[in-house]
Amino acid sequence: MNKHCCRIGILSRVLPCQNKPFGSQTLFLQTCFSSAERISVELAVHDPWKILNREEEEVEGIVFSRGKWIAKMVPFPLVLYDRYYSEISGFDQRLERIRDELGRKCMFVNPPEFSRIVTNKVEFSVKMQRYGFHSPVIYADRIVNEKELACLLTRHQAVVAKPVYGRMGRGIVRIEQDRIGTRNEYRVRTENREIRCSRPMEVAGILRHLAREQVMAVKDFMIQESIDIERIRNRWYDVRVLMQRTRPGSPDLTGMVIRVSNGTVTVPNLDQGGLVMDPEFCFGAMTENKSGMERMEKCRRICNALYLRFEEEYGDIGEIGFDLLIDRKDKIWILEINSKPGRWAFWRLASGFGLDGDRRRMYAETRMISIEKVMQYGRWLCEKSLNEKEN
Ligand SMILES: Nc1ncnc2c1ncn2[C@@H]1O[C@H](COP(=O)(O)OP(=O)(O)O)[C@@H](O)[C@H]1O
Ligand SMILES: [Mg+2]
Repeated sequence: MNKHCCRIGILSRVLPCQNKPFGSQTLFLQTCFSSAERISVELAVHDPWKILNREEEEVEGIVFSRGKWIAKMVPFPLVLYDRYYSEISGFDQRLERIRDELGRKCMFVNPPEFSRIVTNKVEFSVKMQRYGFHSPVIYADRIVNEKELACLLTRHQAVVAKPVYGRMGRGIVRIEQDRIGTRNEYRVRTENREIRCSRPMEVAGILRHLAREQVMAVKDFMIQESIDIERIRNRWYDVRVLMQRTRPGSPDLTGMVIRVSNGTVTVPNLDQGGLVMDPEFCFGAMTENKSGMERMEKCRRICNALYLRFEEEYGDIGEIGFDLLIDRKDKIWILEINSKPGRWAFWRLASGFGLDGDRRRMYAETRMISIEKVMQYGRWLCEKSLNEKEN
C-alpha cells in the first residue's frame, strides 16, 4: 500500500507558538511523526474547527518535517486520532457536534460515542454496574443537602464528592463521619485542606462553597462511594494501565504504572507533581504474603475483559487508559477510564531517578511503543476503510 493512501489526522488544539504549537502535547505529537514515518503513514495535526464542513479535497494541517512544524494543505485524513481537550470542563456540546460530524466522514481511533460515555463519570458508573465490573457506586448525581448527606454518612461512614467531568484530580473531596462519644464529627478533606465540622449543615455548606470556587454548579458534582484504598508506606496509590490494539484480536497491555499520593485526599495528577513508581518494584517489595506478579496479572485480566466488553458495544477501540484502585481487602476497583490516555508516567519513569538504567530504558521504550501502536492501528483502519470503499 502506498503511503499516500494511509492518512491519519490528529485532532489537537493549536496554540500561537512557533516551537511548541500544541503546548504540553508537542513532544508527544513529534514522536507520532517519527513513528508514522517509520511505517509509511502520512500524518498531519488538525484543528477540528478548521477541517469541519470542508468539502474540498484538501484541508489545513500542521506537519513536523526536518525538525520544524509547518502549516500546509494536506488531503483529508481517512482516520482521526482525537487528542483535543475542550476548554470547557464538562460537556462541550459544540465539540461533540464536530466529533459526530467528522465521525460520519472518517473513522476514529476511539469511537466518539465511546469517548463521550466514559468522560461522564455518572454514565460511566451506570455502564460498569450494567457490565458487572466493580466500580464505586454513585449515591447522588449532584451535591446533596444536609439531610441527605447526614443519611448517606450514617449509612456509609465516608463518601467522595467530585466533579462529574474529571478535572485532572481537582475538586475531589472526601467526607468522613467519626463518632466522638455520643455525637458525630465530620471530617472534610480537600486537595490541600482538612476541615472538621460538627453538623451536616456545615459540611453541605462547604461543598456548595467548593463548587462555587471551582466555578461549577451543584449539579456538576456527584457523591460517590469512597474506596478504602490500600497504602504503600502509608500513602494512597492507584494503578494505571494502558491497553492498546494494533489489529483485531486481543488488545495488549502496553504498560502499567503506580501513582502514589503525597498524603492528602487524592492521588495527584502528574502535572501537579505526583509521584510515579514501577509496579514490579512496588508490589514485589510490598508484602510477604502476596505475590506482586499475581496482583499485576489480576489487574491485566480485569482491564482486558473490560476492553473487550466495551468493544462489544462500541466496535473496535484503539486504546484505553485504566485507572484502578486496590482496597485494603485486595479488591480491585475500576475508578475511571481515559479514552485519551497520556504517556507522562512512562516518560517520568524513563527519566527519573531511583530506577536502574535497564528499567529506565524499558520505560522509554514503552512510551515509544505506546505511540507506535496508535500509528499501526491507524494504518490498519485506513486499509480497512479503503477496502470497504473498493468493494
Ligand atoms: N470514590 C473514591 N474513593 C477513593 N478515592 C477516590 C475516589 N474517587 C477519586 N479518588 C481519588 O482521587 C483521584 C482522582 O479521581 P478521578 O475520579 O480519577 O478524577 P479525575 O478524573 O479528575 O482524574 C483518584 O486517583 C483517587 O486517588
Ligand atoms: Mg483520574
